[in-house]
Amino acid sequence: MPAGVVDAAAKGVRLERPAAVLLRRASGAKQLVTASSHLLFRATVLATLALVVLFAVHYPSLLSRSFTLSSSSSSSSAEPALGSTSSPRRPSSHRSLLGSGATYGGAAWERDVRRSATPRRDGGLSVLVTGAAGFVGAHCSLALRARGDGVLGLDNFNAYYDPALKRARQRLLASRGVGVLDADINDAALLERLFAAVPFTHVLHLAAQAGVRYAMRAPQTYVASNVAGLVAVFEAAAKHADPQPAVVWASSSSVYGLNTDAPFSEDHRTDRPASLYAATKKAGEAIAHAYNHIYGLSITGLRFFTVYGPWGRPDMAYFSFARSIVAGEPITLFRAADGADVRRDFTYIDDVVRGCLGALDTAGRSTGSRSGKKSGPAPLRVYNLGNTSPVPVTRMVAILEKLLGKKARKRVVTMPSNGDVPFTHANVSHAAHDFGYRPATSLEAGLRHFVDWFVQYYKLDVKGTTGALAGKTTKRKSMAMSAAS
Ligand SMILES: NC(=O)c1ccc[n+]([C@@H]2O[C@H](COP(=O)([O-])OP(=O)(O)OC[C@H]3O[C@@H](n4cnc5c(N)ncnc54)[C@H](O)[C@@H]3O)[C@@H](O)[C@H]2O)c1
Ligand SMILES: *[C@@H]1O[C@H](CO)[C@@H](O)[C@H](O)[C@H]1NC(C)=O
Repeated sequence: MPAGVVDAAAKGVRLERPAAVLLRRASGAKQLVTASSHLLFRATVLATLALVVLFAVHYPSLLSRSFTLSSSSSSSSAEPALGSTSSPRRPSSHRSLLGSGATYGGAAWERDVRRSATPRRDGGLSVLVTGAAGFVGAHCSLALRARGDGVLGLDNFNAYYDPALKRARQRLLASRGVGVLDADINDAALLERLFAAVPFTHVLHLAAQAGVRYAMRAPQTYVASNVAGLVAVFEAAAKHADPQPAVVWASSSSVYGLNTDAPFSEDHRTDRPASLYAATKKAGEAIAHAYNHIYGLSITGLRFFTVYGPWGRPDMAYFSFARSIVAGEPITLFRAADGADVRRDFTYIDDVVRGCLGALDTAGRSTGSRSGKKSGPAPLRVYNLGNTSPVPVTRMVAILEKLLGKKARKRVVTMPSNGDVPFTHANVSHAAHDFGYRPATSLEAGLRHFVDWFVQYYKLDVKGTTGALAGKTTKRKSMAMSAAS
């Protein structure tokens, strides 16, 4: 897809010189005229004009910010490196918009955007997926594309965790015909452009600053992506899209905060967030209510419970533990303040994807206003997507040890009160009733799929080569990673 873009840039460079030569020639036209070379003069002017037009077509908007659609131009660090993700840097959310050498807008851009977003089956959806180079976004994009829906992805490729993994997901998507724009959800002009170019039926909004403990280091990134960014997406969908799409977005199980009355149901209280991350997701649910109420936007919030699987997030416990076990480095496990095991309702990615598609398929139409229309108010829904069977984190580690053929060096400490909660457990009866959501993957089976991918992606030789394995990884200090997110 960037072929056109690269082409245009290359042509532009080539075009400049002949154009200048021709203009010089045109200025010497008097001599030509006196020499009665009228024909040559006209041909020269025509050629100059043609070159100017060509130039304009390939540079539709020299002033607009630049970004690229898709993948192949950006495979700078294709070689995955185990351990390279150990220190999340502060995300530079706008960097990817600058200096990539392409522009948005223009005929070639719109053609690429439309091609990706156009369904390939009758009645197929056309979905804008934000956070498409992320873990859940990549899986959902592939599943939508596989059944013939149109998908356009958008991601800012920030460095919260290894951007090379996001680029690898982007290449995977490109190979299946899904383009991912390198852009930020806070770029309102871009969103407006997109909704003008494509009649999206749905938005699957998954872009967010995830992770619980990182908020202590970079609080403003949570506000920028999870609050301001959410508003930008709702604004564009409500005001600049015709027709208004239905929006399905990722909230989080973390909104249940310090609740202990398990399993958690959607009508349980959510006013005691234990982290800034949880607070921004809770704020998002309130913002969703307002946009549904005022603009008749169909909105569905999905409260994910600790999603894991292949192509997962390196900042999450199962992933970082796997890396540490392979590298022979210690892992830190938390014990609840009352001494109980920390437990998580680990939910396998394929189950979550089925839930996301079910929510998209059953989302009612946006109505343009809350009431007064024959169609009635637009839907406002919220669903838990969990596995309904919490497992102690120690058990998760035992499964990983078995799969990796190596013991973990464990350090157990009391959970600090910096964002994690001791326990999650979903009641999914609403999702089961409304779109047949039935989580079907045990932690053993799901982690086996994860480890298969993990070993392959990082080119590990797991069987009986512990020394070589440790040698392959760079030394990094042990990190207790968040089990929730
Ligand atoms: N994975 C889980 O266990 C879990 C649990 C609860 C909720 N969630 C939520 O689900 C969604 C997807 O999570 P994930 O695990 O795939 O995380 P992820 O970090 O892998 O995916 C999010 C993607 O969004 C992108 N992004 C972030 N801010 C952006 C911005 N301002 N503009 C454009 N792109 C931006 C990131 O680059 C990333 O690729 C998130 O909203 C997350 O909060 C995830
Ligand atoms: C799950 O939620 C449903 C609907 O809110 C409720 O009827 C049911 O009793 C809940 N189940 C449990 C085990 O709490």
